[in-house]
Amino acid sequence: MKCTIREVQHHVGETVTIGCWLHKKRSSGKIQFLQLRDGSGYIQAIAVKSEVGEAAWEAASKLTQESSLYVTGRVKEDPRSKGGYELDVEGIEILQLTEEYPITPKEHGTDFLMDHRHLWIRSPRQRAILVIRAQIVQAIQQFFNERGFHLVDPPILTPSSCEGTTNLFHTKYFDEDAYLTQSGQLYMEAAAMALGRVYSFGPTFRAEKSKTRRHLIEFWMIEPEMAFVDHVENLQVQEQLIGHIVQSVLTNCRKELETLERDVSKLEQVQGTFPRMTYDEAVAFLHSKGFEFEWGEDFGAPHETAIAEQFAKPVFITHYPTAIKAFYMKPDPQRPEVVLCADLIAPEGYGEIIGGSQRIDDPELIELRFQEHELSKEAYQWYLDLRKYGSVPHSGFGLGLERTVAWICGLDHVRETIPFPRLLYRLYP
Ligand code: 4AD
Ligand code: MG
Repeated sequence: MKCTIREVQHHVGETVTIGCWLHKKRSSGKIQFLQLRDGSGYIQAIAVKSEVGEAAWEAASKLTQESSLYVTGRVKEDPRSKGGYELDVEGIEILQLTEEYPITPKEHGTDFLMDHRHLWIRSPRQRAILVIRAQIVQAIQQFFNERGFHLVDPPILTPSSCEGTTNLFHTKYFDEDAYLTQSGQLYMEAAAMALGRVYSFGPTFRAEKSKTRRHLIEFWMIEPEMAFVDHVENLQVQEQLIGHIVQSVLTNCRKELETLERDVSKLEQVQGTFPRMTYDEAVAFLHSKGFEFEWGEDFGAPHETAIAEQFAKPVFITHYPTAIKAFYMKPDPQRPEVVLCADLIAPEGYGEIIGGSQRIDDPELIELRFQEHELSKEAYQWYLDLRKYGSVPHSGFGLGLERTVAWICGLDHVRETIPFPRLLYRLYP
């Protein structure tokens, strides 16, 4: 009977065959302890010389790190072992003996590991991160699907920009110029006018020459857009979403969080409502901490970290100056020099994970913004149409998947949050 390591719990006392790789091996002369992995989990298989027969004993002796094999054995429960189960080896069929696997248990430098990313993802830490990433994706889809949002896929090849022209990837679209999408938002606004509540989930590209631990060139963004939803309601959706994601990882990925040595007590506090602070309050706070900061500047990483440190939960910073935010954000009717927007700053120094706002719904104001930002009315006629044919108040936001993974996993750098990161000067593998 073939099964995966994850499934052995249903086969206690039975003999099963598992396709797997040798992770590590330890021998005491008469007994070999094989640490096996198959992606679904880890299990220790025990080969006892006096019991397994010569062929299996020989095969076990030959196995090297990352050799592939089918192991056959009896499943037994063992509360002392890590996964709770062990295998008494009865037979081994080697598929391939691996020679000189490049990644050994010794320390390797980051560049070496990044060059071997295709193999590095086999290591327990990297596997744990990718499993948690998959759980986060599932939690996000579940959150929106259960609340009546429709998944809508905006295009990746676009004729114009959404978040400013400085970081666009240019390409040719036959004879026309085209750009890789940096946000699907404008299309999602059109979709919200058709389907009410929508979200997108897809890759996003920023040709940013930033080499920080928070920036990827290609990253995945989740962009909900909601008709008849205002700024205040927008923030409620965001805090519920983040609470749901964190709780779902805590429930389903205990082992992986343990592998990463994540302090889960910090994550356990992330539920309910999140603190809110206006940009003005954030500036006053920075001044009180001795930062030199002028009203109208954008926050840098040290500012965000100082602000976030006051709270155990993520914090919303709202009402940024109109001048430093995107053209589509709705000004506060009480105070048009600030916009009805929020950035959600993660705790523990992980920085901004969400950017969102209420959108301008007034046709005249959006026209004015087009003039101010020198945007081509021709390229965006369709977007202006949304303010012409049944315009409604609407809001949305963008959640960065990799920064969310980095925070929840407690990682130093976003390069480990995505299977094959695209970074400044890194396109391999
Ligand atoms: O704040 P941003 O640029 O917002 C937008 O693109 C809006 N159009 C979203 C919307 O309202 N629909 O990006 C949103 C989030 C950030 O908060 C961050 O988490 C992530 O996307 N992000 C990045 N993640 C990794 N690498 C980068 N270079 C990123 N740039 C943004
Ligand atoms: Mg932002």
